[in-house]
Amino acid sequence: MTEPLILTEIHGDGARRTALIRINRPKQLNALNDALMVEMGQALIGFDRDDSIGCIVITGNEKAFAAGADIAAMAKYDYMHVHQTEYITRNWETLLQVRKPVIAAVAGFALGGGCELAMMCDFIIAADNAKFGQPEIKLGIIPGAGGTQRLPRAVGKAKTMDLVLTGRMMDVQEAERSGLVSRVVPADKLLEEALAAAAAICAYSGPSLALAKACVNKAFEGGLRDGIDHERRIFHSLFATEDQKEGMDAFLNKRAPRFRQR
Ligand code: HXC
Repeated sequence: MTEPLILTEIHGDGARRTALIRINRPKQLNALNDALMVEMGQALIGFDRDDSIGCIVITGNEKAFAAGADIAAMAKYDYMHVHQTEYITRNWETLLQVRKPVIAAVAGFALGGGCELAMMCDFIIAADNAKFGQPEIKLGIIPGAGGTQRLPRAVGKAKTMDLVLTGRMMDVQEAERSGLVSRVVPADKLLEEALAAAAAICAYSGPSLALAKACVNKAFEGGLRDGIDHERRIFHSLFATEDQKEGMDAFLNKRAPRFRQR
């Protein structure tokens, strides 16, 4: 029997729990092929629709989050194939449809498409052995899953140009200094820390989480005035939810809130 391309687990014991997706091609340093990305997309959509799930974590193993798109597969592609099958757009971008928070827990290599996949997540918690890079230039291509757009927004033009044009890797200290990752943790604590962050998220109101995520993405992807107008409309709309009444009442009465996801 062939190994599954991804492994999924459910963690936590609250009303809403965390779905963990492990990328599982260890012999290829978790290189991401089409079949794997289709499976991951299906898992993501399933968890997004599942009311018992509050947060999703994507991880790899201690050696690699993912060393990129699968070069052995890509080597056979020609222009018409990638154009007609909408390579990347068709299955990688399923991740962008997920409304629940998605955390990337990165240890080891996150290169090329692996770095881009991590950047499509809402934030990155990195192990102290993580290494990031966009080495596509060495293969005669360029980043193709958003790397030339998301990396400069995260770390600025100078560092992006340096990484994209030289193809070098950056270690986790540089990645944290430049704003690519939100926290660095010891490698043997990575999953524990990511699951603890996810558990904290799971305790909150699902609607306000989804809308907070949408607003931050607006800032990341668009202009300031549009983003602020969008945020204000969303902010006002949350006063129509029961969770807003509950959250504020709980605070004023010095008790824990019981969010009912509506
Ligand atoms: C397919 C890969 C792979 C990849 C590693 N492997 N990366 N296979 N696609 N992206 C395979 C190797 O061929 C090898 O297979 C096995 O994994 C172990 O890798 P080694 O090179 O032996 O390991 P090591 O010496 O530790 O070097 C690690 C490494 C190196 C520095 C990460 O593997 C490497 O440079 N990989 C390629 C990184 C890269 O260029 N990524 C970007 C891809 S392009 P065998 O069978 O020999 O054991 C991309 C496009 C993005 O991502 C745009 C669209 C998403």
